[in-house]
Amino acid sequence: MPAVNKICCIGAGYVGGPTCAVIALKCPHIQVTIVDINQARIDAWNSKDYKLPIYEPGLEDVVREARGRNLFFSTDVDKGIQEADLIFVSVNTPTKKSGIGAGFAADLNYVELATRRIAAVSNSSKIVVEKSTVPCRTAESMRTILEANSPANCRFDILSNPEFLAEGTAVNDLFAPDRVLVGSLETPEGKVACDALTEIYANWVPRERILTPSVFLPVNALSAICEATGANIDEVAYAVGKDSRVGPSFLRASVGFGGSCFQKDILNLVYLSDSLHLPEVANYWRQNIAVLGFAFKADTGDTRESAAISLVRDFQAENANVNIYDPQVVHEQIWSDLSEACPTIPLTTLQKRVKIFSSALEACKNAEAVVIATEWKEFRDIDWNVVYLNMRKPAFVFDGRILLDADKLRNIGFKVTVIGRGEKL
Ligand SMILES: NC(=O)c1ccc[n+]([C@@H]2O[C@H](COP(=O)([O-])OP(=O)(O)OC[C@H]3O[C@@H](n4cnc5c(N)ncnc54)[C@H](O)[C@@H]3O)[C@@H](O)[C@H]2O)c1
Repeated sequence: MPAVNKICCIGAGYVGGPTCAVIALKCPHIQVTIVDINQARIDAWNSKDYKLPIYEPGLEDVVREARGRNLFFSTDVDKGIQEADLIFVSVNTPTKKSGIGAGFAADLNYVELATRRIAAVSNSSKIVVEKSTVPCRTAESMRTILEANSPANCRFDILSNPEFLAEGTAVNDLFAPDRVLVGSLETPEGKVACDALTEIYANWVPRERILTPSVFLPVNALSAICEATGANIDEVAYAVGKDSRVGPSFLRASVGFGGSCFQKDILNLVYLSDSLHLPEVANYWRQNIAVLGFAFKADTGDTRESAAISLVRDFQAENANVNIYDPQVVHEQIWSDLSEACPTIPLTTLQKRVKIFSSALEACKNAEAVVIATEWKEFRDIDWNVVYLNMRKPAFVFDGRILLDADKLRNIGFKVTVIGRGEKL
């Protein structure tokens, strides 16, 4: 297998976008094209003023440096596939909504469709790298599809290279990963393909951190354990003693886990709803409640499986008025999430009861209660004296992220509940 000169990444999302932008930055000799069927997403990646479709600290700098040099974004999936020596498959694997495994198993339709496309349009041999979080044996299924559908002169070597980045710290995680896993078949061709991908990462990752288990199983098992148990993949990595990021930062995350790879922080939600049903609170929050934060965690605009969605849905069931503010999540995303979560409420009705604001202070104005749903640092620095003055009294604060200085707020006059600390009001 000759050295890799051209890479194509199928899927310009939270994983494919940052991962391949960083590869382009660190490997100026390789042409990287990230393709996606979502025109709006590609347009945003290509936007002149760098209004990228996802927010990650440091990402804009990476894209500014590499875009147009050796980093390209396109909706021409077929051309991207045809030109590439190596293809990352980084498409979404959402939780199945129906059928066997609904509610917990990964929907592999997108992986399958992308793989079929590779088989259909390829006119030269490729290394195909599975990057989506997929269960064990997906690589084998991909190989079966490729072998059954591809022209005779094309050979496909399949690697498994699960992504460990965490949203919010994706660029740092990619710049200095604790480890990169590359799984391959134990055949000579498998080894050659594995070496080709290892060489790419070795442009900036110390070689001792690039682990190349000789069978697919250990690599896939990590992802599969994550899928099966809802565990944070980093916890799994911690268990095998490879991850220095976990330790203190894991503890700091506290009740804050959520997001597409993790089980929702149900406990937090249940506790919060429970607290809100305290009779003396209920009278107030029914009227107007401010939800600060809509992303599933700080420093990202990603809302998938965010606790805020379930919260606002529950508030809607109680006919509450809700004011939302999030520093990064775009308004269209909030409406789309809420429409999906509240299918029986027409959007026009929803938009009468829910308002989205462009600052925390505005969102809190005239509210009876404020809920911290995402641990954005800026919420700590709000002028809480002003918030208090503008709220109806008694002014309740429910801190779902153990973010605020509860004593300070109590001194101002707030009734504070810190979720997860067992303290009330
Ligand atoms: N987000 C995370 O923190 C994270 C971390 C580790 C692993 N993962 C895994 O990585 C994978 C990708 O996750 P994501 O967050 O980037 O998803 P995403 O939804 O943000 O992006 C996936 C993209 O793939 C595109 N796509 C789907 N089918 C396509 C096709 N046939 N051709 C071209 N484009 C296609 C979609 O339009 C979408 O833009 C998932 O399996 C996820 O579980 C995610």
